[in-house]
Amino acid sequence: MIEKLVRKNVLDFQPYLPGKPIEEVKRELGLTRVDKLASNENPLGPSPRAVSAMKKFLNRVNLYPDGSGFYLKKVLATRLKVKLENIILGSGTDEIIEIIGKTFLNPTDEIVVSKHAFIRYEMAGELMGCQIKRVPMKNFTHDLEAMKKAINETTKIVFIANPNNPTGTYVTEEEVAKFMNGLPEEIMVVFDEAYREYVTRKDYPQTLPYVKRGQTVIVLRTFSKIYGLAGLRIGYGIGKSELIGFMERIRPPFNTNSLAQIAAQASLSDESHIKRSRELVDKERKYLEENLEKMGVEFVPSVANHILLKVGNGKDVFDKLLKKGIIVRAMAEYDLPEFVRVTIGLPQQNRRFINALREVMDKCS
Ligand SMILES: Cc1ncc(COP(=O)(O)O)c(C=O)c1O
Repeated sequence: MIEKLVRKNVLDFQPYLPGKPIEEVKRELGLTRVDKLASNENPLGPSPRAVSAMKKFLNRVNLYPDGSGFYLKKVLATRLKVKLENIILGSGTDEIIEIIGKTFLNPTDEIVVSKHAFIRYEMAGELMGCQIKRVPMKNFTHDLEAMKKAINETTKIVFIANPNNPTGTYVTEEEVAKFMNGLPEEIMVVFDEAYREYVTRKDYPQTLPYVKRGQTVIVLRTFSKIYGLAGLRIGYGIGKSELIGFMERIRPPFNTNSLAQIAAQASLSDESHIKRSRELVDKERKYLEENLEKMGVEFVPSVANHILLKVGNGKDVFDKLLKKGIIVRAMAEYDLPEFVRVTIGLPQQNRRFINALREVMDKCS
């Protein structure tokens, strides 16, 4: 009976499985030390400037936030050399992905994604009842040529996470330019750049010029990753004002809270925190990759703050690491049942992870 009340798309919908919270694992397994390397967070925490800005504001949370996020948008607009009307704020980019779906997708439309791309794009499409075209990857990297070929008259949006989660790979400036060349105006391209600040490669593409040229492109960026504000839920999208305007129509009025707006603004000014965070990931990625090689564990070389490892039975290795107080992410929902994904943590956490993985893999072999 209840099923009759529920939209068909919701009846068929598979919920997102987030990384397990530390406290839950401690409680369930009776552990005192648990390291979470499961959600690609910044292990150095937020910028101290963000923390002190929030502290000063705490006694004013009785007031609703500025729904438009004027001051944060102003800082972003100046930095990115765009207008305020080109920016939408979201409760994480996750919410913006959903707003994109609700604003633009009809049930007769199709979206194009890579087979192992961040799963929330598919979910946004499924919620709207769309067809999802999943294009196989090449070496765990988006195959932009194949994705372009997959576009047909029903395609509305192509989602490109760059770098991609969970593979940690990226597409280059040249590949993106080729993909964008001659693309019909009615096809929207969403570049999700959640991990862009970690990338040090010279051929990593600049996508804002496509927005500034008036192309049908939305660029997504977040404060959840290198900025260390995942718990506050704040991210933004940049696009031409006509697109953003329609998204603004359905954005919930107070979707980003005042502490998040203030912390995000303060974080943008803390270049040294970003630099430290990037350097930590660069150094520790090398440590992890060297040790995985020594152990003979296959992995996908990453430019982001996480690594995809081929471990045999991903769920089994996830469970065994959990019992040792280390939370990683099993990858079955990404159609990668032999893999786990690990977030690059603090030096001590990474050493603990390598030791635990060695024990687990020894037992498996
Ligand atoms: C590629 C990608 N995009 C978007 C998100 C969502 O981030 P948030 O909603 O915290 O901004 C994530 C989170 O893991 C991600 O990996």
